[in-house]
This record gives sequence, structure tokens and C-alpha cells, in this order.
Amino acid sequence: MTDLIAPHGGRLLECLVRGAGRETYLHQAQRLPSLTLGEWEMSDLELLATGAISPLDGFMRQADYDSVVDRMRLSNGTVWPLPVTLSVTEEQADLWREGLDLALRSPEGEILGILHKPELFPYNRAVEAKLVFGTTDTAHPGVAKIMAQGPYYVGGPVSVLNLPRHDDFTPFRLTPEETRQEFRRRGWKSVVGFQTRNPIHRAHEYLLRCALELADGLMVHPLVGQTKGDDIPAELRMRCYQALIEGYLPQDRVLLVVNPASMRYGGPREAIFHAIIRQNYGCSFFIVGRDHAGVGKFYGPFDAHRIFERFTRSELGVTPLCFDNAFFCKVCQGMATVKTCPHPAAERISLSGTAVRQMLAEGKSPPAEFTRPEIAEILKEAYVSHP
Ligand code: ADX
Ligand code: MG
Repeated sequence: MTDLIAPHGGRLLECLVRGAGRETYLHQAQRLPSLTLGEWEMSDLELLATGAISPLDGFMRQADYDSVVDRMRLSNGTVWPLPVTLSVTEEQADLWREGLDLALRSPEGEILGILHKPELFPYNRAVEAKLVFGTTDTAHPGVAKIMAQGPYYVGGPVSVLNLPRHDDFTPFRLTPEETRQEFRRRGWKSVVGFQTRNPIHRAHEYLLRCALELADGLMVHPLVGQTKGDDIPAELRMRCYQALIEGYLPQDRVLLVVNPASMRYGGPREAIFHAIIRQNYGCSFFIVGRDHAGVGKFYGPFDAHRIFERFTRSELGVTPLCFDNAFFCKVCQGMATVKTCPHPAAERISLSGTAVRQMLAEGKSPPAEFTRPEIAEILKEAYVSHP
């Protein structure tokens, strides 16, 4: 391999406009009808701005939307698993005029960008929920979001003029172009990406170690956009990731970067989405473990492995590293999966998220076979101050 893996679709498509073009657009945007974005749409806009979801150049129009929902491809055939859309209410749809651009604003009123020549189209909420998430049950957070949003989408290319503002995780907010530069600087050719939205435990660590045996470097890429209310907040998780990297991993082989995306809880389809995003950041491998991006019992534990079989190597550049359920085995005295450990289930220590939360709430530390003590301390402290 001579260079890092190419972005999905061939090149990084950054929708962020700089220089004189930006000034002109900012001027124009003042006079356009405005659409205020929610937190989720702002995070999608940020992904569009930086090229994290290349080759998308904006919010989906109907042809791409229909094709993505139906067959997980853009209308030109490129693999794409999830809709990236901008929904509007009946009243907002009244702003729309054939051929006229829309200014996209933050809830504080700041201009973020322009949606060019938007196409307005109705869609069927239940069809989208069923095909994308596999259910219409509003107990699924992704479905709940679809059901609560406006009845139309507006789609078209975007010019991003201002990135959504963040005052947290500043040193970790690298763009795909920047991580690629950093990988090259470190001499990494093969990089493995790791998605996470939970405090890091030893099963995660085991996957990271296995992956580090294969690749030149590892990008730990926690998702810090919107998550459901009972997920652990990103600030707390970031302290756990840092403690693990500092205490247990070779730091020159690991890069911690945040992923500004919102969590869709789309299970297998989101696993493909996550893999494509990491490819755009320069990763040739992507870790997919048990119940990747799952929620409740909506997906089978390895559905997210099987979905990758539907695409050829040339269609999806990034290679998934699929892992079975990992646990600590008392007989092996180490981490393993059923692929490497012959002992019965009774010898294994693995805890559900709920069990861990309960222990923390009672001021108890999860066992060292499950969570590193430094991380247990961080979590316990947070639970004691904010039960
Ligand atoms: S999520 O995006 O999949 O929801 P999470 O932090 O829960 O994030 O998991 C991160 C990654 O580790 C995912 O690829 C997930 O499948 C994998 N994973 C989590 N726990 C285990 C486990 N016990 N065994 C194997 N893989 C796991
Ligand atoms: Mg999970």
C-alpha cells in the first residue's frame, strides 16, 4: 500500500466554503428565507462540511433518498446505508419557493450555510422506519425521531459557511483531512477505526488490542453528537477513553479523535454508515463487534457483521474487522471470545450495561475483570456526584 485508503466515492467532498466565495454567500444568505436546524441536523451539516460523509454534497433529494431507503445505494449506485435528510413542518414548507435557496441557521440565529435550489418532497414515515430501522416501534429512538419530525424533506447541495460552534473537546476535533495528515505524519499506512458511545470496558479494550496487532495505528473515534437520554454523557466517556489510552495502550500507536455525528441506533445499517465515515477519516479497517450501534433487542447480536456481505470489496473500500462477543474467562485468566476459549459460560465474566449502572449507583466498582480500576473510579465518582 502506498498511501492511505481513498475516501468513499473517490475523493473528500468538503462542503465548507472558504475565502471570497464565503463572503459572497454570507451576504446573499441574509436575504434568503431561513430554516433553523436542530441538533441532529447541525451534526449532519458538520459531517457534510468536513467531508466525513463524502461523497454526499448536501441533504438528500428524493431520488437518492428513495434509493437509499430501498436498496442502500445512492441513485448512482454508490453504497449508502442511511438517509441524511432535512425535515420540515407544513409551516416551514411554506417558505419554500421553486428555485429559491434557503439559509440554514443555528437555533441562536447564526447563519450556518445555504441549501441550494432545494427540492421539497413528502415521504412516508412508517416506510422509512421499517426499511431503515427494521421496526415502526417508537421505543426505538431512531424511529421516535422520524415519527416526531415534519412531513416533508428539503434536499439539495449545501454550502457550509460557519461550522456549528463547540467549546468542548477542542484538541480532539480533527477533520478527515487533518486525521489523514496526522496518520501520514506518523507513518501509518493501515489504520483501524473504532466507534464507541459507551464508557470503555475490557471487551472494547480486547478488540482494540487485537486490531493493533494487525494495523499500523488505531483511531479511537467516540461519537459525541446527540445520543439518547440514558446514554453516558460524552464528557464523562472522554475521560474514560483518555484513562485507558494513557494507562494501557502504546500512545504513539493510538489517536483519540471525536466524531461529531449523532447516534441513530440503526444497528446493521448504521454499522455501514460508521465504517464509511471512518474510511473518509483515513481508516482502512473498522471494528464491528457485538450488537454494533444497537439498542434494546431490535437487532440480532451479529446482524451488523452479516450486512457487510452484501457489498463487494470494490464497492466498500474499508474492511470490517468483525468480533464475536468478548468476555473475561476465569480459567483462561484473560479476555477471549468463543473463538478462542473452550470453557463453559459459567466461567465467563460479562455484565450488561444495566447491571453496571446499578453497581455504580450503589457506589460499587465493577470488577477489574470487567472494567479497568481507573475507569471504574471515574464512573463511580460521577455517579456519586450525579446519581
Ligand atoms: S455502539 O456504537 O456499538 O453502540 P459501543 O460503545 O456500545 O458503541 O460499542 C463499541 C464497539 O464495541 C461496537 O463495535 C460494539 O459492537 C463492540 N462491542 C461492545 N461490547 C462488546 C463485547 N462485549 N464483545 C464484542 N464486541 C463488543
Ligand atoms: Mg453497543
